Amino acid sequence: MKKLFMPYRGAALQLKNHVVMAPMTRSRAIGNVPNELMAIYYKQRSGAGLIITEGTSPSPEGLGYPRIPGIFTDAQIEGWKGVTSSVHEGGSKIFLQLMHTGRIAHSSNLPEGHQVVGFSAVKAAGEIYTDNGMLEYSAPVALDEAGIARIIDDHVKAAENAIAAGFDGVELHGAHGYLLEQSLNPYVNNREDNYGGSIENRRRMAMEIVQKITASIGADKVGLRISPFLTSNDMPSYEEAAVHETYVQLAREVNRLGIAYLHISNNPGIPEKTHQDIREAFANTIIYCNGFTAETAEEKLQDGSADLVAFGRSFLANPDFMERIEKNSPLNELDYNTLYSPGEKGYTDYPELNYISSITS
Ligand SMILES: Cc1cc2nc3c(=O)[nH]c(=O)nc-3n(C[C@H](O)[C@H](O)[C@H](O)COP(=O)(O)O)c2cc1C
Repeated sequence: MKKLFMPYRGAALQLKNHVVMAPMTRSRAIGNVPNELMAIYYKQRSGAGLIITEGTSPSPEGLGYPRIPGIFTDAQIEGWKGVTSSVHEGGSKIFLQLMHTGRIAHSSNLPEGHQVVGFSAVKAAGEIYTDNGMLEYSAPVALDEAGIARIIDDHVKAAENAIAAGFDGVELHGAHGYLLEQSLNPYVNNREDNYGGSIENRRRMAMEIVQKITASIGADKVGLRISPFLTSNDMPSYEEAAVHETYVQLAREVNRLGIAYLHISNNPGIPEKTHQDIREAFANTIIYCNGFTAETAEEKLQDGSADLVAFGRSFLANPDFMERIEKNSPLNELDYNTLYSPGEKGYTDYPELNYISSITS
């Protein structure tokens, strides 16, 4: 049997197979509150051993995109309970991805009375999706040290809320140019205090968050997503040796705290040396997400460079992705027009094999 389909027994994670549904923002949380439609969407995809939810904000100012969910109010916790219980009924584990968008935001996407913040006052180049079309990113206000302390506390509270909502754990979004990665990048983080300058200072906020969350909910319930060398969301690239050191040291530090997994996101991939050194620095589960097909993912599992493999778009367009790859059936095409539009179209209405065979027989 292919490794993809075999149960996974990690030190912290036990899953029905080796397949993870990657976190994907879908903007269906009207009023930033998770709802029944989202519970249906996630349950449809519970063939995955582990589901990681869409990026979810720990506070109002981290809601940089329209209609993304939060985990800081009672209504949001209640809404998420519907999602976690549905997914557990489907036999999957589910982690909540904590995402503070930082400067990758537009002020019109935030609730009233909140402003776009950044690790430094460095505006992102480019445009962001809003319900009034694509607009330039807003200029961020630089966080002061009290602001950073508040954000750390918000993450801890959000992680506690996630456990109260029935999640098996939380994944910190340290990838793709959002707030945590903004703090790691020397061109976006130009602070001169304890949170800027050296590699150690630049990872301080991430480490304080991981440390405090771990102390509160347990290391076995914490994962971290990183994307070394990825430049999306206006992340300037920097010297290869410095990127390598930044992430290998980070892997070593979070390993010391014993977190459940490290999730590496990059397509088309990171240098082999960086991958190997991260693998050696981190003892627990490594999840890799790298534009996989079922075949390339199986190779990654077989060659031992990943413990689990994550698929994004394949799960988005194929609720029964596991069944399809098991039967070698063709995959549905992704509809790019409905990725972030409200409602069930392009969300819960992708056809399943059973449905197709019932209308063709
Ligand atoms: C519609 C969409 C939304 C995404 N939102 C997130 C997100 O909220 N958090 C995150 O870490 N990655 C996000 N991603 C990236 C995916 O997790 C994944 O890394 C990427 O799609 C590459 O994997 P794939 O080739 O299997 O799709 C998103 C991707 C897509 C297509």
